[in-house]
Amino acid sequence: MGDTKRIGILTSGGDCSGLNAVIRAVVRRAIGSYGWQVFGIHEGTMGLLRRPLDYEELTLRLFTGNVLRMGGTLLGTTNKGDPFAFPMPDGSVADRSAEVVEGYRELGLDALIAVGGDGSLRILQRLAETGGLNLIAIPKTIDNDVGFTETCVGYNTAVYVATEALDRLQPTAASHSRVIILEVMGRDAGHIALAAGIAGGADVILIPEIPYSLKNVAAKIESLREAGRNHALVVVTESVKTESGEPVGVKDEAGNVRYGGIGQYLGERIAEMTGAQTRVTVLGHLQRGGTPTPRDRLIGSVFGVHAVDLIAQGKFGQMVAWQDRRVVEISIPEVLAHRRDVDPQGTIVGTARGLGISLGD
Ligand code: F6P
Repeated sequence: MGDTKRIGILTSGGDCSGLNAVIRAVVRRAIGSYGWQVFGIHEGTMGLLRRPLDYEELTLRLFTGNVLRMGGTLLGTTNKGDPFAFPMPDGSVADRSAEVVEGYRELGLDALIAVGGDGSLRILQRLAETGGLNLIAIPKTIDNDVGFTETCVGYNTAVYVATEALDRLQPTAASHSRVIILEVMGRDAGHIALAAGIAGGADVILIPEIPYSLKNVAAKIESLREAGRNHALVVVTESVKTESGEPVGVKDEAGNVRYGGIGQYLGERIAEMTGAQTRVTVLGHLQRGGTPTPRDRLIGSVFGVHAVDLIAQGKFGQMVAWQDRRVVEISIPEVLAHRRDVDPQGTIVGTARGLGISLGD
Protein backbone atom coordinates (compact mmCIF):
# COMPACT_ATOMS: atom_id res chain seq x y z
CA MET A 1 0.00 0.00 0.00
CA GLY A 2 1.19 3.55 -0.65
CA ASP A 3 -0.22 6.93 -1.59
CA THR A 4 -3.25 6.95 -3.84
CA LYS A 5 -2.10 7.30 -7.42
CA ARG A 6 -3.77 8.12 -10.71
CA ILE A 7 -2.44 5.93 -13.47
CA GLY A 8 -3.26 5.84 -17.17
CA ILE A 9 -3.22 2.93 -19.58
CA LEU A 10 -3.33 3.01 -23.35
CA THR A 11 -2.99 0.47 -26.13
CA SER A 12 -1.11 1.60 -29.23
CA GLY A 13 -0.25 0.23 -32.68
CA GLY A 14 -1.95 -2.77 -34.29
CA ASP A 15 -4.28 -4.64 -31.97
CA CYS A 16 -3.89 -8.31 -31.05
CA SER A 17 -5.53 -10.88 -28.85
CA GLY A 18 -4.81 -10.63 -25.13
CA LEU A 19 -4.90 -6.84 -24.76
CA ASN A 20 -8.06 -6.93 -22.67
CA ALA A 21 -6.42 -9.44 -20.33
CA VAL A 22 -3.61 -6.89 -19.82
CA ILE A 23 -6.05 -4.04 -19.10
CA ARG A 24 -7.99 -6.22 -16.67
CA ALA A 25 -4.81 -7.22 -14.82
CA VAL A 26 -3.70 -3.60 -14.50
CA VAL A 27 -7.10 -2.59 -13.13
CA ARG A 28 -7.34 -5.48 -10.69
CA ARG A 29 -3.84 -4.91 -9.33
CA ALA A 30 -3.98 -1.11 -9.22
CA ILE A 31 -7.45 -0.80 -7.69
CA GLY A 32 -7.75 -4.14 -5.91
CA SER A 33 -4.31 -4.24 -4.32
CA TYR A 34 -3.23 -0.59 -4.12
CA GLY A 35 -6.51 1.37 -4.08
CA TRP A 36 -5.43 3.62 -6.97
CA GLN A 37 -7.49 5.16 -9.78
CA VAL A 38 -7.04 3.89 -13.35
CA PHE A 39 -7.85 5.89 -16.47
CA GLY A 40 -8.18 4.12 -19.80
CA ILE A 41 -7.04 6.42 -22.61
CA HIS A 42 -8.84 5.89 -25.91
CA GLU A 43 -7.08 5.14 -29.22
CA GLY A 44 -3.49 5.31 -28.06
CA THR A 45 -2.02 8.79 -27.68
CA MET A 46 -5.01 10.22 -29.61
CA GLY A 47 -6.97 10.23 -26.34
CA LEU A 48 -4.42 12.57 -24.77
CA LEU A 49 -4.27 14.76 -27.87
CA ARG A 50 -8.00 15.39 -28.19
CA ARG A 51 -9.74 18.18 -26.30
CA PRO A 52 -11.66 17.42 -24.27
CA LEU A 53 -9.40 14.52 -23.36
CA ASP A 54 -10.78 11.18 -24.54
CA TYR A 55 -10.66 8.63 -21.73
CA GLU A 56 -12.77 6.73 -19.22
CA GLU A 57 -12.20 5.81 -15.64
CA LEU A 58 -11.82 2.03 -15.40
CA THR A 59 -13.47 0.30 -12.46
CA LEU A 60 -13.36 -3.26 -11.14
CA ARG A 61 -17.01 -3.70 -12.14
CA LEU A 62 -16.12 -3.38 -15.82
CA PHE A 63 -14.07 -6.56 -15.55
CA THR A 64 -16.45 -8.93 -13.81
CA GLY A 65 -17.72 -10.41 -17.10
CA ASN A 66 -16.13 -11.81 -20.21
CA VAL A 67 -13.50 -9.13 -20.92
CA LEU A 68 -10.66 -11.58 -20.26
CA ARG A 69 -11.92 -13.75 -23.10
CA MET A 70 -12.37 -10.97 -25.65
CA GLY A 71 -10.10 -10.16 -28.60
CA GLY A 72 -9.30 -6.58 -29.61
CA THR A 73 -8.85 -3.78 -27.09
CA LEU A 74 -11.70 -2.16 -25.24
CA LEU A 75 -9.73 1.11 -25.25
CA GLY A 76 -9.31 1.24 -29.04
CA THR A 77 -5.95 1.77 -30.70
CA THR A 78 -4.29 3.30 -33.73
CA ASN A 79 -1.15 2.71 -35.72
CA LYS A 80 -1.33 6.19 -37.26
CA GLY A 81 -1.01 9.68 -35.82
CA ASP A 82 2.56 9.81 -34.49
CA PRO A 83 2.30 13.01 -32.36
CA PHE A 84 5.84 14.02 -33.43
CA ALA A 85 4.79 13.93 -37.11
CA PHE A 86 1.06 14.29 -36.95
CA PRO A 87 -0.78 14.31 -40.31
CA MET A 88 -2.77 17.57 -40.49
CA PRO A 89 -5.94 18.04 -42.60
CA ASP A 90 -4.07 20.30 -45.06
CA GLY A 91 -1.60 17.49 -45.84
CA SER A 92 1.25 18.91 -43.75
CA VAL A 93 2.73 17.18 -40.69
CA ALA A 94 3.05 18.91 -37.32
CA ASP A 95 4.81 18.16 -34.03
CA ARG A 96 1.90 17.90 -31.57
CA SER A 97 3.82 16.01 -28.90
CA ALA A 98 3.56 18.92 -26.40
CA GLU A 99 -0.24 18.59 -26.50
CA VAL A 100 -0.02 14.91 -25.56
CA VAL A 101 2.25 15.78 -22.63
CA GLU A 102 -0.21 18.52 -21.58
CA GLY A 103 -2.98 15.93 -21.74
CA TYR A 104 -1.06 13.65 -19.37
CA ARG A 105 -0.67 16.59 -16.94
CA GLU A 106 -4.30 17.71 -17.31
CA LEU A 107 -5.44 14.23 -16.34
CA GLY A 108 -3.16 14.45 -13.29
CA LEU A 109 -1.43 11.17 -14.05
CA ASP A 110 1.34 9.84 -11.82
CA ALA A 111 2.31 7.22 -14.40
CA LEU A 112 1.32 5.84 -17.78
CA ILE A 113 1.29 2.19 -18.88
CA ALA A 114 1.69 1.87 -22.63
CA VAL A 115 0.88 -1.46 -24.23
CA GLY A 116 2.60 -1.42 -27.61
CA GLY A 117 5.04 -2.90 -30.08
CA ASP A 118 8.39 -1.58 -31.20
CA GLY A 119 7.06 1.41 -33.19
CA SER A 120 4.66 2.63 -30.49
CA LEU A 121 7.20 2.20 -27.72
CA ARG A 122 9.70 4.31 -29.67
CA ILE A 123 7.20 7.18 -29.86
CA LEU A 124 6.12 6.84 -26.23
CA GLN A 125 9.70 6.72 -24.97
CA ARG A 126 10.41 9.92 -26.87
CA LEU A 127 7.35 11.52 -25.27
CA ALA A 128 8.49 10.32 -21.86
CA GLU A 129 11.95 11.81 -22.39
CA THR A 130 10.80 15.16 -23.74
CA GLY A 131 7.80 15.55 -21.44
CA GLY A 132 9.00 13.86 -18.25
CA LEU A 133 6.28 11.17 -18.26
CA ASN A 134 6.57 8.24 -15.86
CA LEU A 135 6.30 5.48 -18.44
CA ILE A 136 6.03 1.70 -18.10
CA ALA A 137 5.81 -0.39 -21.26
CA ILE A 138 4.14 -3.74 -21.90
CA PRO A 139 5.20 -5.51 -25.12
CA LYS A 140 2.45 -6.67 -27.43
CA THR A 141 2.62 -7.58 -31.07
CA ILE A 142 1.79 -10.64 -33.11
CA ASP A 143 5.16 -10.06 -34.85
CA ASN A 144 7.05 -10.96 -31.61
CA ASP A 145 9.98 -8.78 -32.65
CA VAL A 146 10.48 -6.79 -29.43
CA GLY A 147 13.92 -7.23 -27.90
CA PHE A 148 14.68 -8.91 -24.56
CA THR A 149 11.36 -10.68 -24.16
CA GLU A 150 10.74 -14.24 -25.24
CA THR A 151 7.16 -13.45 -26.04
CA CYS A 152 4.87 -10.50 -26.62
CA VAL A 153 1.14 -10.47 -25.91
CA GLY A 154 -0.74 -11.60 -29.03
CA TYR A 155 1.99 -13.71 -30.61
CA ASN A 156 0.78 -17.03 -29.29
CA THR A 157 -2.76 -16.47 -30.56
CA ALA A 158 -1.44 -15.52 -34.01
CA VAL A 159 0.64 -18.72 -34.16
CA TYR A 160 -2.39 -20.71 -33.05
CA VAL A 161 -4.55 -19.21 -35.81
CA ALA A 162 -1.87 -19.79 -38.47
CA THR A 163 -1.34 -23.38 -37.32
CA GLU A 164 -5.06 -24.03 -37.38
CA ALA A 165 -5.14 -22.63 -40.93
CA LEU A 166 -2.51 -25.21 -41.96
CA ASP A 167 -4.54 -27.93 -40.23
CA ARG A 168 -7.45 -26.94 -42.45
CA LEU A 169 -5.41 -26.47 -45.62
CA GLN A 170 -3.55 -29.79 -45.53
CA PRO A 171 -6.61 -32.02 -46.13
CA THR A 172 -7.83 -29.94 -49.06
CA ALA A 173 -4.30 -29.77 -50.51
CA ALA A 174 -4.11 -33.58 -50.28
CA SER A 175 -7.59 -34.11 -51.70
CA HIS A 176 -6.80 -32.03 -54.81
CA SER A 177 -3.08 -32.83 -55.16
CA ARG A 178 -2.18 -29.15 -54.83
CA VAL A 179 0.57 -26.96 -53.48
CA ILE A 180 -1.04 -24.51 -51.08
CA ILE A 181 0.77 -21.36 -50.04
CA LEU A 182 -0.20 -19.69 -46.77
CA GLU A 183 0.89 -16.06 -46.42
CA VAL A 184 1.11 -14.91 -42.80
CA MET A 185 1.80 -11.57 -41.11
CA GLY A 186 4.83 -10.67 -39.02
CA ARG A 187 6.13 -7.60 -40.81
CA ASP A 188 9.92 -7.87 -40.96
CA ALA A 189 10.22 -10.89 -38.65
CA GLY A 190 9.49 -14.51 -39.54
CA HIS A 191 8.48 -15.73 -36.08
CA ILE A 192 4.85 -16.52 -36.94
CA ALA A 193 5.72 -18.33 -40.19
CA LEU A 194 8.45 -20.39 -38.57
CA ALA A 195 6.50 -21.44 -35.48
CA ALA A 196 3.23 -22.14 -37.30
CA GLY A 197 5.07 -23.79 -40.19
CA ILE A 198 6.74 -26.28 -37.86
CA ALA A 199 3.61 -26.87 -35.76
CA GLY A 200 1.41 -27.16 -38.86
CA GLY A 201 3.62 -29.52 -40.84
CA ALA A 202 4.76 -27.18 -43.62
CA ASP A 203 7.18 -28.44 -46.27
CA VAL A 204 8.66 -25.04 -47.09
CA ILE A 205 8.91 -21.98 -44.82
CA LEU A 206 10.14 -18.68 -46.24
CA ILE A 207 11.05 -15.89 -43.81
CA PRO A 208 12.67 -12.51 -44.38
CA GLU A 209 15.74 -13.40 -42.29
CA ILE A 210 16.82 -16.20 -44.68
CA PRO A 211 17.36 -15.48 -48.40
CA TYR A 212 15.71 -18.02 -50.68
CA SER A 213 15.77 -19.04 -54.32
CA LEU A 214 12.79 -20.22 -56.34
CA LYS A 215 14.97 -22.97 -57.71
CA ASN A 216 15.41 -24.41 -54.22
CA VAL A 217 11.69 -24.14 -53.47
CA ALA A 218 10.81 -25.89 -56.74
CA ALA A 219 13.43 -28.59 -56.06
CA LYS A 220 11.86 -29.30 -52.66
CA ILE A 221 8.43 -29.70 -54.22
CA GLU A 222 9.84 -31.97 -56.93
CA SER A 223 11.58 -34.10 -54.30
CA LEU A 224 8.32 -34.50 -52.36
CA ARG A 225 6.61 -35.61 -55.57
CA GLU A 226 9.38 -38.12 -56.27
CA ALA A 227 8.95 -39.48 -52.75
CA GLY A 228 5.27 -40.09 -53.46
CA ARG A 229 3.64 -37.05 -51.92
CA ASN A 230 0.81 -35.52 -53.96
CA HIS A 231 0.66 -32.18 -52.17
CA ALA A 232 2.75 -29.61 -50.31
CA LEU A 233 2.30 -26.75 -47.85
CA VAL A 234 4.34 -23.57 -48.15
CA VAL A 235 4.27 -20.86 -45.49
CA VAL A 236 5.61 -17.41 -46.27
CA THR A 237 5.98 -14.23 -44.21
CA GLU A 238 4.32 -11.23 -45.82
CA SER A 239 7.59 -9.24 -46.01
CA VAL A 240 9.54 -11.87 -47.97
CA LYS A 241 10.67 -10.19 -51.18
CA THR A 242 10.49 -11.39 -54.76
CA GLU A 243 13.57 -13.21 -55.98
CA SER A 244 14.81 -9.94 -57.47
CA GLY A 245 14.47 -8.22 -54.09
CA GLU A 246 11.21 -6.27 -54.51
CA PRO A 247 8.86 -6.00 -51.52
CA VAL A 248 5.27 -6.90 -52.41
CA GLY A 249 2.45 -4.69 -51.17
CA VAL A 250 1.06 -1.18 -51.40
CA LYS A 251 2.59 2.07 -50.13
CA ASP A 252 0.67 3.91 -47.40
CA GLU A 253 0.42 7.71 -47.02
CA ALA A 254 3.75 7.81 -45.14
CA GLY A 255 5.50 5.88 -47.93
CA ASN A 256 5.81 2.66 -45.86
CA VAL A 257 4.99 -0.61 -47.60
CA ARG A 258 1.86 -2.36 -46.34
CA TYR A 259 2.83 -5.92 -47.21
CA GLY A 260 0.61 -8.37 -49.04
CA GLY A 261 0.86 -10.45 -52.19
CA ILE A 262 4.10 -12.44 -51.91
CA GLY A 263 1.98 -15.60 -51.61
CA GLN A 264 0.39 -14.95 -55.02
CA TYR A 265 3.82 -14.31 -56.54
CA LEU A 266 5.12 -17.60 -55.17
CA GLY A 267 2.01 -19.48 -56.24
CA GLU A 268 2.46 -18.36 -59.84
CA ARG A 269 6.20 -19.09 -59.93
CA ILE A 270 5.83 -22.53 -58.31
CA ALA A 271 3.09 -23.45 -60.80
CA GLU A 272 5.30 -22.37 -63.73
CA MET A 273 8.38 -24.17 -62.46
CA THR A 274 6.86 -27.44 -61.22
CA GLY A 275 3.61 -27.76 -63.16
CA ALA A 276 1.79 -28.17 -59.84
CA GLN A 277 -1.64 -26.71 -59.30
CA THR A 278 -1.22 -23.98 -56.69
CA ARG A 279 -3.65 -22.08 -54.46
CA VAL A 280 -2.93 -19.19 -52.13
CA THR A 281 -4.47 -18.23 -48.77
CA VAL A 282 -3.67 -14.86 -47.21
CA LEU A 283 -4.46 -15.10 -43.51
CA GLY A 284 -4.33 -11.35 -42.82
CA HIS A 285 -6.08 -9.88 -39.81
CA LEU A 286 -7.57 -13.21 -38.74
CA GLN A 287 -4.26 -13.57 -36.90
CA ARG A 288 -4.98 -10.52 -34.76
CA GLY A 289 -8.56 -11.14 -33.72
CA GLY A 290 -10.66 -13.60 -31.82
CA THR A 291 -10.39 -15.33 -28.49
CA PRO A 292 -6.90 -15.06 -26.97
CA THR A 293 -5.14 -18.34 -26.20
CA PRO A 294 -4.61 -19.25 -22.52
CA ARG A 295 -0.91 -18.42 -22.97
CA ASP A 296 -1.65 -14.85 -24.15
CA ARG A 297 -4.12 -14.35 -21.30
CA LEU A 298 -1.53 -15.63 -18.84
CA ILE A 299 1.36 -13.54 -20.18
CA GLY A 300 -0.93 -10.51 -20.42
CA SER A 301 -1.96 -10.98 -16.79
CA VAL A 302 1.64 -11.42 -15.63
CA PHE A 303 2.71 -8.28 -17.50
CA GLY A 304 -0.23 -6.20 -16.23
CA VAL A 305 0.33 -7.05 -12.58
CA HIS A 306 4.09 -6.50 -12.81
CA ALA A 307 3.70 -3.16 -14.58
CA VAL A 308 1.58 -1.87 -11.70
CA ASP A 309 4.08 -3.20 -9.16
CA LEU A 310 6.87 -1.30 -10.95
CA ILE A 311 4.88 1.92 -10.58
CA ALA A 312 4.44 1.17 -6.87
CA GLN A 313 8.23 0.82 -6.63
CA GLY A 314 8.79 4.07 -8.57
CA LYS A 315 10.75 2.19 -11.27
CA PHE A 316 9.95 4.05 -14.48
CA GLY A 317 11.29 3.89 -18.02
CA GLN A 318 11.05 0.09 -17.91
CA MET A 319 9.43 -2.53 -20.11
CA VAL A 320 8.16 -5.72 -18.53
CA ALA A 321 9.53 -8.82 -20.23
CA TRP A 322 9.26 -12.60 -20.08
CA GLN A 323 12.60 -14.37 -19.71
CA ASP A 324 13.39 -17.87 -18.58
CA ARG A 325 9.95 -18.54 -17.05
CA ARG A 326 9.75 -15.31 -15.08
CA VAL A 327 8.83 -11.69 -15.46
CA VAL A 328 11.63 -9.12 -15.42
CA GLU A 329 12.01 -5.47 -16.37
CA ILE A 330 14.40 -3.98 -18.91
CA SER A 331 15.07 -0.32 -19.63
CA ILE A 332 13.02 0.83 -22.61
CA PRO A 333 15.95 2.45 -24.51
CA GLU A 334 17.86 -0.82 -24.22
CA VAL A 335 14.89 -2.74 -25.61
CA LEU A 336 14.55 -0.30 -28.50
CA ALA A 337 18.19 -0.79 -29.43
CA HIS A 338 17.69 -4.53 -29.92
CA ARG A 339 14.99 -5.82 -32.27
CA ARG A 340 14.36 -9.51 -32.07
CA ASP A 341 14.21 -11.08 -35.50
CA VAL A 342 14.47 -14.83 -36.12
CA ASP A 343 17.99 -16.05 -35.42
CA PRO A 344 19.01 -18.04 -38.53
CA GLN A 345 21.42 -20.03 -36.32
CA GLY A 346 18.89 -20.53 -33.50
CA THR A 347 17.11 -23.60 -32.17
CA ILE A 348 13.84 -23.08 -34.01
CA VAL A 349 15.49 -22.71 -37.42
CA GLY A 350 17.68 -25.72 -36.55
CA THR A 351 14.57 -27.69 -35.68
CA ALA A 352 12.94 -26.81 -39.01
CA ARG A 353 16.06 -27.99 -40.84
CA GLY A 354 16.20 -31.11 -38.67
CA LEU A 355 12.67 -31.95 -39.74
CA GLY A 356 13.61 -31.65 -43.38
CA ILE A 357 11.64 -28.47 -43.93
CA SER A 358 13.08 -26.32 -46.71
CA LEU A 359 13.85 -22.71 -45.82
CA GLY A 360 14.50 -21.97 -49.47
CA ASP A 361 18.26 -21.50 -49.06
O1 F6P B 1 2.50 -5.24 -36.56
C1 F6P B 1 1.37 -6.05 -36.55
C2 F6P B 1 0.83 -6.23 -37.95
O2 F6P B 1 -0.29 -7.10 -37.88
C3 F6P B 1 1.86 -6.75 -38.97
O3 F6P B 1 2.09 -8.13 -38.84
C4 F6P B 1 1.20 -6.32 -40.25
O4 F6P B 1 2.16 -6.13 -41.27
C5 F6P B 1 0.57 -5.00 -39.89
O5 F6P B 1 0.40 -5.00 -38.48
C6 F6P B 1 -0.76 -4.75 -40.54
O6 F6P B 1 -1.18 -3.47 -40.20
P1 F6P B 1 -2.63 -2.89 -40.51
O7 F6P B 1 -3.52 -3.29 -39.38
O8 F6P B 1 -2.42 -1.41 -40.57
O9 F6P B 1 -3.09 -3.47 -41.80
